[in-house]
Amino acid sequence: PGSTRPTAHGDLSVGGVPLAEVAERFGTPVYLVDEDEVRARCRLYREAFAEAEIHYAAKAFLCRAMAHWVEEEGLGLDVCSRGELELAVTTGFPAERMILHGNAKSPDELEAALRLGVGRIVIDSTAEIARIAALVPYGARQRVLLRIAPGIAAGAHPAVRTGTADQKFGLSSTDGTAQLAIARVLEQPRLELVGLHCHLGSQISSVKPYLLAVRRMVALMHGTRQAHGAVLPELDLGGGHAIAYRPGEDALDVRALASRVRAELRSACATVDLPEPRLLLEPGRAIAGPAGVALYRVLSVKQNGRQTFVAVDGGMSDNPRPALYGVRYAPRLVGRAASAELSPVQVVGRHCEAGDVLAAGVELPADIRPGDLLAVPASGAYHLSMASGYNLVGRPPVVAVTGGTARLLVRRESLADVRSRDVGL
Ligand code: LLP
Repeated sequence: PGSTRPTAHGDLSVGGVPLAEVAERFGTPVYLVDEDEVRARCRLYREAFAEAEIHYAAKAFLCRAMAHWVEEEGLGLDVCSRGELELAVTTGFPAERMILHGNAKSPDELEAALRLGVGRIVIDSTAEIARIAALVPYGARQRVLLRIAPGIAAGAHPAVRTGTADQKFGLSSTDGTAQLAIARVLEQPRLELVGLHCHLGSQISSVKPYLLAVRRMVALMHGTRQAHGAVLPELDLGGGHAIAYRPGEDALDVRALASRVRAELRSACATVDLPEPRLLLEPGRAIAGPAGVALYRVLSVKQNGRQTFVAVDGGMSDNPRPALYGVRYAPRLVGRAASAELSPVQVVGRHCEAGDVLAAGVELPADIRPGDLLAVPASGAYHLSMASGYNLVGRPPVVAVTGGTARLLVRRESLADVRSRDVGL
């Protein structure tokens, strides 16, 4: 797959559709998603991890079409809110193939999950054990996983490191909290503890933290058998696999991850003579990220001090990631032949703060001017899903591009939409 990885400024198509045509038809800013690339990435996971269950992490990007594609490709779904759960259910996605996450699941979320028959619920705190058990109807059993913080620091930014003891997710296995919780879950007749879960963090570009996680999680499963005689059949290693945001950046190699994790699991289990648990994975970014492109129109180009600012019609409301995590993108001028000479610019958004920078210090053709189109590759994950209503500009639409055709999946949020929620005076 590589249709969304342009190599030169100028003409660029995604899914066989020229970007200038998309801008003309749907306006800007707009998010494009290449359905073929999403499907190809789902298949890559299914093939590399043939023996595992792959659950796409819906928080990265979800709309009804996405849920449908993922389901057709044979993946499950990791959901972390009633909104994600119910949106997917409306497409016919079987709740049985979903995993519900959350460190603060509300009573109505839990009630909806049980009513709709969510396959597994991931318990994130000791208090949740009895809370979930109390909602399970008499005679029934809910399958649950227990989320562990295995004491591993990994992830591209402090905000997305979730494997250590001193952050809000899971139960720490390094101080005995997890072990106590395992005992509590096993005591609950209405809960079936099918396995342990950990999610180390996000945008992790090395396999090493995953191998360490396998060792620690297997040790904990071994301890569980020794203490309670319970052999847990599943191990969920979460997601977090890195993608390349700019040319030259390293993505985590999914096939290498699969073979190294498989070998580590085999050896860790053999050492303590534990049957190998079934693996579960929850990639989000690595499935949706590379399949998305954000398209903007340049509205102004100006010099201020020693900088050239190229301002576009979107910004931190449709992509907060540079401001939140300091992520660097590589926008490209598209839709016309441009000067070969490049000059360094700051690509900034339209919002009312100086921190609204989409791409700092990038090289763009020296003749860039208002009316030009800028495409930002690798915009498929945590863009729409994190879009805000800042400055009441309305969120961009999502357009699927595939096989030379473009179709609207999610319409633009209109000013009427924005106004309609404001009902008081
Ligand atoms: N499983 C769990 C329990 C998670 O919390 C997450 C992401 C994933 C799987 C999927 O992780 P992925 O494969 O997408 O890295 N907003 C941040 C990313 C936050 C990730 C939150 N949890 C960003 O824009 O980079």
